[in-house]
Amino acid sequence: MTETILTGAGSGAPRTIERTPRRAPLIGSYQERCQSFTWNEAREWLDGMPDGCLNIAHEAVDRHASAGLADQVALRFLDRTLPTQELTYAELRDLTDAFAIALRTLGVRPGERVCTLLDRSPALYVTALGALKNGSVYCPLFPAFGPEPVRERLELGSVRVLVTDAEAYEHKIAPNRDSLTSLEFVLIVGDRSLATEPSAPLPTGTLPWSETMAAATSVLHRDGFTIAATRPEDPALLHFTSGTTGRPKGAVHVHQAVVAHHATTRFALDLRPGDIFWCTADPGWVTGTSYGIIGPLTCGVTVVTDAADFDAGRWYRILEEQHVTVFYTAPTALRMLMRKGTELAHGHNLSALRHIVSVGEPLNPEAVVWGLEAFGLPIHDTWWQTETGAIMISNYPGMPIRPGSMGRPMPGIEIAVLERGDDGRAAVVDGKVTVVAQPGVDGELALRPGWPSMFRTYLDNPERYAKAFVDGWYLTGDVARVDGDGYVWFVGRADDVIKSAGHLIGPFEVESALMEHPAVAEVGVIGKPDPLAGEIVKAFVTLQTGYEPDERLRRELIMFGRRRLGSVAPREIAFDQALPHTRSGKVMRRLLKARELGLPEGDLSTMEPSP
Ligand code: WT7
Repeated sequence: MTETILTGAGSGAPRTIERTPRRAPLIGSYQERCQSFTWNEAREWLDGMPDGCLNIAHEAVDRHASAGLADQVALRFLDRTLPTQELTYAELRDLTDAFAIALRTLGVRPGERVCTLLDRSPALYVTALGALKNGSVYCPLFPAFGPEPVRERLELGSVRVLVTDAEAYEHKIAPNRDSLTSLEFVLIVGDRSLATEPSAPLPTGTLPWSETMAAATSVLHRDGFTIAATRPEDPALLHFTSGTTGRPKGAVHVHQAVVAHHATTRFALDLRPGDIFWCTADPGWVTGTSYGIIGPLTCGVTVVTDAADFDAGRWYRILEEQHVTVFYTAPTALRMLMRKGTELAHGHNLSALRHIVSVGEPLNPEAVVWGLEAFGLPIHDTWWQTETGAIMISNYPGMPIRPGSMGRPMPGIEIAVLERGDDGRAAVVDGKVTVVAQPGVDGELALRPGWPSMFRTYLDNPERYAKAFVDGWYLTGDVARVDGDGYVWFVGRADDVIKSAGHLIGPFEVESALMEHPAVAEVGVIGKPDPLAGEIVKAFVTLQTGYEPDERLRRELIMFGRRRLGSVAPREIAFDQALPHTRSGKVMRRLLKARELGLPEGDLSTMEPSP
């Protein structure tokens, strides 16, 4: 059997590459699946619990632990020095039972929020799955966030329990702890104790992880544990995502999302029993949860996780030594690998690798072709969002790939491209939208609601949630076109949200933090194109009178941003005493961006006239 890979489709003459797949897909062809698939069928692939209950952690861990996979490695942790720590499915079951008991003992109820601010370490996975077993809602926080994004999300989420380490606690939590009134318990993982006097008691509600877990494990051995009887529509996960205005939005997902996590992991990532899977996304973001924890564990495979930062040589070593079979990563990482050339790849035995998948930002067509040269495998792009919870569009295994296209809708997913209005979003007239009829024409990408991992609300913001649905469609905020064969091509965002190294950054959050510096009178933040990261954050700052726009102040502002915001801070700052405004007084980010790129300034009718 050969696989056809079309290159150049959509731009220039198509070129066809054929190759023999290392193993034929077990999941059926794309056409077959699309014709017969229903979400009810996918529900049957899971175990379920008595009385119609469903719990993500049961599907991910317990059912394998009690069905022949008890001694199989579920999670394999690599740290900076590479020696590994492993947890089998049975060990993971016991640890997550114990953490659920710990939460119960603290009086943490179903529906209450439990957060992690942790490196990729066992405690993170145990917290995530243990919280779900208690019926609590798990909310990951990105460990590279600075104190301000962390404080904001803990407050917005009314988070009751946080699991973190001593260093993050001291720098990011302790300074704001008094103002975080719902944060009752903080569990500290690791040996390093807090910088209080060794004999001094920990602050109220601050508990050592190891002792808490030891006590809960004794209870587990004495009394056993019964998982919470969660219903399919009970909330399970909270993921913060950024919009163009206002504070971060908390997308809420329910236990039933696991039906989509599981089915899409089988379909798009092609996971099968015996696979060794590596997802390079941090579990602090939705990809690292849906596909770094839940999806692959529901498939009963071994998940490799690496605590270290990107390093090309190290990554090839991991792929080789761990015998990784399926690799899910992001375009920024692939571009960094590409920079090192194919020789580095060819110097490693990557014969175990069967399938490579990408997500999060546009995947350059060259990267797909480079994958063939470096790995002998094309890279399969996938598209989805925090709100969709799972992959919605993908280059299905075995389907001919058009490099530059995100692929086709997953089985069970209906999409449309909608005509746009002046603001760049879908045009709504009398509550109705218009579907673009001709292939190849841009519009806002929309999805038909109804898949199991669709977000169920924005926390405490039902109005914002309601606004995302118009005329029977969920509006994604992305602009795309669909070609004559149903392949979807990403065009751009319909809003000002920044995508840097695959992470969404809200310009408003960055602007608000910079505004707190006494020198800053006003600020506009944009994404500036960058060959490696896709975009970097750039801020245009108007100074208060009395401040000099010099190099010293620029450096000070960069440091100020970094201390407060961490990884989402601006990398570049420009001084501009005449920022363009709309008539309603808002900084026109769109115009700042057009000027930065030397592009036409577009429709200026809403611009405030120059003084
Ligand atoms: C936004 C969602 C994907 C889950 C993790 C990030 C952009 C996503 C692609 C792709 C071009 C992509 C979109 C989307 N995006 N995948 N394959 N090609 N752009 O979730 O942080 O909510 O970001 O990422 O703009 O709306 P997220």
